[in-house]
Amino acid sequence: MRRVTSIADLRTALAAERRAGRTVALAPTMGALHDGHLANVRRAAAEADVVVVSIFVNPTQFDRADDLAAYPRTLDADEAALRGLGGAAPAYVFAPFEREMYPTTPTTTVHVGGGITEVLEGASRPGHFDGVATVVTKLFHVVEPDVALFGRKDAQQNLVIRRFVTDLDVPVRLVFTPTVREADGLARSSRNQRLSAGARAAAVGLPRALRAGVLAARVDREADRAPDPGRVRHAALATLASVPDVAVDYLEVVDPDTLAPPDAARGEAAGVPAASSSAPGPSRRLLVATAAVVGGVRLIDNVEVGDVEDEDRLLAATD
Ligand code: PAF
Repeated sequence: MRRVTSIADLRTALAAERRAGRTVALAPTMGALHDGHLANVRRAAAEADVVVVSIFVNPTQFDRADDLAAYPRTLDADEAALRGLGGAAPAYVFAPFEREMYPTTPTTTVHVGGGITEVLEGASRPGHFDGVATVVTKLFHVVEPDVALFGRKDAQQNLVIRRFVTDLDVPVRLVFTPTVREADGLARSSRNQRLSAGARAAAVGLPRALRAGVLAARVDREADRAPDPGRVRHAALATLASVPDVAVDYLEVVDPDTLAPPDAARGEAAGVPAASSSAPGPSRRLLVATAAVVGGVRLIDNVEVGDVEDEDRLLAATD
């Protein structure tokens, strides 16, 4: 495993790998690696010959300076965790300094429209997805991966990445890996390490709320009805709102392809095929997405109702 900090050095190394006929996977991260990241890296090793893990706390995706300052930076521990993967350890850790990624104040931004960046996280964190889409585009240009892997916890981010990869013909295959959860169901996140003991106990309200939403959807499905978005939302929100010390930012039930209200007209702008399983029917897909501030730490989580594997994983983790 080799740490590379310069774009030029990484390009040189990867060009040699490609000349030798090897394929390349990229797992982009902001460090503070946890089991979710490590599962992603293991999967990357199964998807390509050479794995690059990028570790870069991208300032342009933070809307608050205090949040950026508080973001954990643990490069040595991250590298030790990656080495611990043994045969699945990445060949390269790309850990650029800020001046390498942004030598001048950037004047070009990748902005994904179609209504998917203004809602949910985008409504609470203005400019966040421009920062994400721009830095991921830059990483794709630097690494030119055959495949790139992202965790499903960031469902909206994944939709944004899917959209610009399609719209800009970026030649990369995207793989979204299941959310890895703690024993009580809390989604693994780099932010969890900032939770006090009390906040950590309250944080389990997020996956429990999603569980309530899935169970409500299952009641509808068992009666051969399409899961009712209003009922799913009510069940999930009632659970989350009952947990003391959790300030709900949003809990929404949306179309997983457009992030629009499930019954809204399906927008061409988001490039969604006319016939989709998010149309009403027992197999209807709904994204239940939430963000809440717990003990001063902002956490997100989601589950895709109608994706039975995603539902089952959440139910098993919160049992
Ligand atoms: O999900 C993250 O950790 C970041 O948003 C990403 C994709 C590495 C871009 O900075």
